[in-house]
Amino acid sequence: MNNCIGEVLITEAEIKHKVSELAQRLASDYEHKGLTIIGVLNGSLIFLSDLIRQIPFPVKIDTIRANAYSGDSTLPKGEVDIINISLNIKDEHVLIVDDILDTGKTLSRIVQVIKGHDPRSIKICVLLNKAARRETEIVPDYCCFEIENKFVVGYGLDFDNKYRNLPYVAILGEYR
Ligand code: IMP
Ligand code: MG
Repeated sequence: MNNCIGEVLITEAEIKHKVSELAQRLASDYEHKGLTIIGVLNGSLIFLSDLIRQIPFPVKIDTIRANAYSGDSTLPKGEVDIINISLNIKDEHVLIVDDILDTGKTLSRIVQVIKGHDPRSIKICVLLNKAARRETEIVPDYCCFEIENKFVVGYGLDFDNKYRNLPYVAILGEYR
């Protein structure tokens, strides 16, 4: 598998360190208010599971599913399909967790959907921010790494639904 991927952009150790710092920030921002975390599937799967296990207070967890890319393409198909949460988040503090903020279309749509559930607050947390690609107003409230405009895989991020299980983030190689 590993000869299909290019340069390792973020190592396993770097991710671990940032995720643990982020969990501490969330503790100081939310410990006394309570927190509901909503992970965006499938991309946030690995980030979400590592992050929540570092958070030192009880959090509620749900997921929302969004599909913005079609099959094996590295380009957005322009549509976002949503499968909604099942928790009641009315008057709760909500943190939406995703793998990457790219154009911002997926998270903008998800924020719209979550707002409809009437939470007390909504913040956005991403592992990666590809700010150069942004097409919407959205900015992350919490972000582990800023990256350049390259298509990356690993630590939850896929190409054609593969490579999510890499423990690091790498640039997709030419030979897939
Ligand atoms: P958006 O363009 O911000 O709506 O990003 C939508 C989704 O595209 C993200 O949640 C990722 O699942 C996926 N995506 C964007 N950039 C990359 C990338 O570099 N590698 C893998 N998936 C990506
Ligand atoms: Mg995603």
